[in-house]
Amino acid sequence: MKGIVLAGGSGTRLHPLTLATSKQLLPVYDKPMVYYPLSVLMLAGIQDILIISTPGSLPSLHALFGDGAQLGLNLSYAEQPEPRGIADAFLVGAGHLAGDDCALVLGDNIFHGAGFGSLLRDTRKNLDGCTLFGYPVSDPERYGIAEVDERGRLVSIEEKPARPRSDNAVTGLYFHDADVVEIARGIRPSARGELEITDVNRVYLEAGRARLATLGRGFTWLDAGTPQSLLEAGQYVQVLENRQGVRVACLEEIALRMGFITADECHELGRRMEKTQYGRYVMDVARSSAGRA
Ligand code: DAU
Repeated sequence: MKGIVLAGGSGTRLHPLTLATSKQLLPVYDKPMVYYPLSVLMLAGIQDILIISTPGSLPSLHALFGDGAQLGLNLSYAEQPEPRGIADAFLVGAGHLAGDDCALVLGDNIFHGAGFGSLLRDTRKNLDGCTLFGYPVSDPERYGIAEVDERGRLVSIEEKPARPRSDNAVTGLYFHDADVVEIARGIRPSARGELEITDVNRVYLEAGRARLATLGRGFTWLDAGTPQSLLEAGQYVQVLENRQGVRVACLEEIALRMGFITADECHELGRRMEKTQYGRYVMDVARSSAGRA
């Protein structure tokens, strides 16, 4: 399975914050926003990842991660000059996917919860068609909304419905099999001129090949697309990290735990940032892992 982080868009809801920089590079407490979605793909065990963004933002994303080798990843980059829709990621990424299954994550989505890594790895292993991740929200008209029947089967998906049939939002993380590129090629742009991910998912649903994994209570899903939600996301991460002494979406730690890099390599990555708590945390994680080995 290959991964895609879709980190484009114009970020207009964050102006003036995003007039001169990309939304996905803004800080969510102690790290750039894009760390969070990238960590999700890494937790799923995916190392071959394409980052899609605007021509203006790609150089900064490249400066941040390079080819990803320091994290044991194989990162590549592709331009999406205009926000042509989330499903356009499958067309831009067709060469990268090269007939493989795909995990797509939106660059402004933040997930956190116990057992998430194993849920992702199980989903990947058992993928048959597509798997979406549902999360209950209080403002369902803002999201793609999934309806399930009494047996928990997915029966409908609607994009930002005026009268939502449930409060189960479809989060910005999507697992699809290799058919997704052909399916995306076959859909038409919506009234707002975009290739909608919901239209792709509906094709799977109508073929009886779509599943919904529900992220329940005790799980956190945030998007950071407005000044308020950006600040709230930062505050959430700050409280959690300071209270528990662990880090959310620490890429070096995940790379180490997933076996993508060695303890020595992890320690060196931390040492380069040793003036920060983040860097010292990475060094501590590496030391205790080496101690256990
Ligand atoms: O966050 C989850 C929601 O994301 C889902 O519930 C919806 O079904 C899905 O359509 C999407 O809704 P949004 O209103 O959040 O989509 P938006 O157009 O804001 O795009 C989400 C992110 O993807 C945003 O950070 C920008 C990026 N993006 C979006 C488009 C349309 C791109 O990079 N390129 C694009 O062409």
